[in-house]
Amino acid sequence: MINKRIERKKALDFSDKLLSWHQNINRGLPWVGIKDAYRIWLSEIILQQTRVEQGLPYYQQFIRRFPTVRSMAEATEDDVLRLWQGLGYYSRARNMYYTAGMVTQQYRGKFPTSYDELIKLKGIGAYSAAAIASFAANEPRAVVDGNVVRVLARVFGLSIDYQRSEGKKLFSHVAQQLLPVEKAGRYNQAIMDFGALQCVPRGPECGSCVMERICYASRKKQVARLPVKRKKHELKKRYLHFFIICHQDEVLIEQRTAKDIWKGLYQFPLIETEAETPFNELLQSDKAKSLGLEAMQGMKDINRHKQKLSHQELHFTVYQLWCRSNTFNTLARQYMAVPAIHLKKYSFPKTLAYYTDISLYSIK
Ligand code: ADE
Repeated sequence: MINKRIERKKALDFSDKLLSWHQNINRGLPWVGIKDAYRIWLSEIILQQTRVEQGLPYYQQFIRRFPTVRSMAEATEDDVLRLWQGLGYYSRARNMYYTAGMVTQQYRGKFPTSYDELIKLKGIGAYSAAAIASFAANEPRAVVDGNVVRVLARVFGLSIDYQRSEGKKLFSHVAQQLLPVEKAGRYNQAIMDFGALQCVPRGPECGSCVMERICYASRKKQVARLPVKRKKHELKKRYLHFFIICHQDEVLIEQRTAKDIWKGLYQFPLIETEAETPFNELLQSDKAKSLGLEAMQGMKDINRHKQKLSHQELHFTVYQLWCRSNTFNTLARQYMAVPAIHLKKYSFPKTLAYYTDISLYSIK
């Protein structure tokens, strides 16, 4: 199965139809049709993380703030994280910053365009390397992402889960056979757009599709079954209790350093539990005792939020507490005490960023 050979005629038919279809498509995306590998790279990193509509304003802000890879390298990691705020999965942004430094030093600011060079860079996997090399230099490397998998599974009747290692091999092998060597960049863009606009996950309009005659799934009424996916396992639940501990005009924060979500971002003192836990039970924990929570005033503004990540479901509870000066000074050795008016200078996870708004604090 992995060595599945696509009949030459069908392969040509497919790529011809795809390229003609694409001649009438213009989504007005600023990273399409350009050769600047830095900009293409930036768009691909953002689009690994989010959909085109949500990614577009981020792309524009990044380009405005960092028009060249050197300008990104010369900024701080925190500057990059702050612009990335809201996209989630912050290790992508950290890798991006690292790679900007690498390219500036090792390649003197000239972003590489060959697959073999690109794949060595942090945060660039097979998909992004193929996208950048084909768009910037027309190198014949086929891209395989979720959109491409859907198109290929349906048109060529590939019934294997792409997440399995055999699935990855099969889809890459088929994708590479279909790629017209002279038109690699245009073809890769066309198949991505075809997956995004025509061969959509649910309810594609097969009656008006250029592939209808050659599409396996359409002929065999298998469109809803393909691509095959394994069942999602249950999301891990985490209960995060954040304490906004204030004294006069200052608030305690800390930077996350563990190899976990939000590494490098800032947060308020945290107690994490595996189950929902009311405040009076939290007070019994060692962490609550070391923070001295019991003696604090407040619990004002208790807010709850829920956020789903790809593998986790986060339950936030946010408390605001007022603290006496001696306790605050002791805690300030372990945490950072920052004036509330400066909270916005620090990068917080999206849900917590709301609490950096000074108007929430009774501080003049
Ligand atoms: N998703 C990832 N890369 C893309 C691109 N170049 N165009 C549209 N969607 C994409």
